[in-house]
Amino acid sequence: MAQKYKSVPVKPSEITPKDVYLSRRDFLKQMGIVTAGAALLAACSTDIPAEPSTNVQPDTAQSVDVSSEELTDYEAAINYNNYYEFTTDKEGVAKLAQDFKSDPWTVEVTGLVNNPKTYGVEDLLSGFTQEERIYRLRCVEAWSMVIPWNGFTLASLLKEVEPKSEAKYVRFETLLDENQMPGTKNRLYPWPYVEGLRLDEAMNDLTLMATGLYGEMLMPQNGAPFRLVVPWKYGFKSIKSIVKIELTDEEPLNFWQEIAPNEYGFYANVNPNVDHPRWSQASERRIGELSRRETLMFNGYAEEVAYLYEGMDLTKFY
Ligand code: MTE
Repeated sequence: MAQKYKSVPVKPSEITPKDVYLSRRDFLKQMGIVTAGAALLAACSTDIPAEPSTNVQPDTAQSVDVSSEELTDYEAAINYNNYYEFTTDKEGVAKLAQDFKSDPWTVEVTGLVNNPKTYGVEDLLSGFTQEERIYRLRCVEAWSMVIPWNGFTLASLLKEVEPKSEAKYVRFETLLDENQMPGTKNRLYPWPYVEGLRLDEAMNDLTLMATGLYGEMLMPQNGAPFRLVVPWKYGFKSIKSIVKIELTDEEPLNFWQEIAPNEYGFYANVNPNVDHPRWSQASERRIGELSRRETLMFNGYAEEVAYLYEGMDLTKFY
């Protein structure tokens, strides 16, 4: 496994502690932090409080002044479970998702493939080599975590269905079930949640179909039973609770592109040199830490993925 992270390896000290990750709410209470209204706004909301796009100072240099501002940002981060199908209330996702039925479940793999197939839970859990991968997760909103995921490579699944030569992209779709997912009653959003990758990105060894985290089965709020994890891209590309994977010859339009095409692109590669139109991407808040960290190009995975974008203008907002 070590060779997979050779660009900038995740150090053990970087791993977001399980209790912090799993019990954001409890952790928040322990810290005695009261959630402000602004902190309840969801990750990719067009209403999020913008961070300054310039002059982002490391916290260490700002002590008192920054602490109140940073605590607001920090509390927003530790309440994060971005799963709009349930709610845009960061603290509300886990509770609303607790009875979510993720078994039985099927994932249809279809489109431009020689062997289309619909997989059940057991097919995916036992049919592919399960691994643990420790990845950084960098949200477009400039918070980050380091999570040990369990899962299998998307490439191993795609090889089995055999993409046809015309297949250039992979389109993913999340379950849409109004009875279980109250947030989907909000017609302002273009449900179902859709994401997409270029086929070569999907085939990259880093691209994971996650089935668990911290050695346990995925929890509903994290996208049970199967979600994508694409660690060099902003978190919104890591689509949850997938029911359909379709190989296509057209670039899929993703959920956030459809909502705000001026702010979210198809590629969404982590790039500290290209700001979001409303905030800087140069640094990030690591959950559980008070200091900001510099954001790394491709989230630290340049060695594994930079070749995919040769010839592309990376200063352009994609
Ligand atoms: N997938 C679906 N179906 N719906 C969502 O709202 N949010 C995305 C991504 N996958 C989202 C989704 C965003 S913006 C982020 S940052 C990550 O999930 C957050 O994953 P986490 O809650 O497990 O930390």
